[in-house]
Amino acid sequence: MTKVFTVAIDGPAAAGKGTISRAVAARFAFAHLDTGVLYRAVGVKGGDPVVVARGLSAEDLVRGDLRSLEAGQAASRVAAIPEVRAALLEFQRRFARRAGGAVLDGRDIGTVICPEAEVKLYVTASAEVRARRRWLELGGEDAPKPYEVVLAELHERDARDMARAEAPLKPAADAVVIDTSEMGIEAAVAAAVERVAAGLAMSGRIDAPGE
Ligand code: CDP
Repeated sequence: MTKVFTVAIDGPAAAGKGTISRAVAARFAFAHLDTGVLYRAVGVKGGDPVVVARGLSAEDLVRGDLRSLEAGQAASRVAAIPEVRAALLEFQRRFARRAGGAVLDGRDIGTVICPEAEVKLYVTASAEVRARRRWLELGGEDAPKPYEVVLAELHERDARDMARAEAPLKPAADAVVIDTSEMGIEAAVAAAVERVAAGLAMSGRIDAPGE
């Protein structure tokens, strides 16, 4: 079995991190943590975000409304509070270094949560491509908001995530950038899998079953 091995996948909203992370985790039999869910859960719960972050329960993480646009905006507001980030840090660090390998996707995995990650990917795409993906995900013509509004909100969230003082969104110096603007999801997954396989080979760890 693979020992400690962390794949950090960071990048802006709707860049494809989730799909790539799930595929990499499945391919190498690693555990996966979507860290955005932690911030979304704090954002939607209401009340004092610091208190909520300190007392987050497993139930909070499976609420049905976590994927909404509003939850995304609320998440990025509470994510700028240093005490909220501090409350969520230890859980993420432990997850990253668990036995058997882990994939974490978020904004600060390669820079703050796990700077020692064996593989760091920064998945990005143009704002227009990302907004279009999110809009289609929400139902396209049937989406609750027109494309232009989804794009404007995405710009707003990216700006807030990149400008905050604490753990701002930026590629780690040693991250490999995957730009999915003109790449189908299969190609993006293949590029990520290739990097992880190379990282595993370099670290001398045993590859996943099925090899
Ligand atoms: O899925 P999407 O990329 O739209 O968002 P997400 O990954 O669920 O993250 C929602 C928000 O949580 C982001 O806009 C960030 O403000 C915040 N977040 C963060 O600050 N740090 C992380 N590691 C993950 C998310």
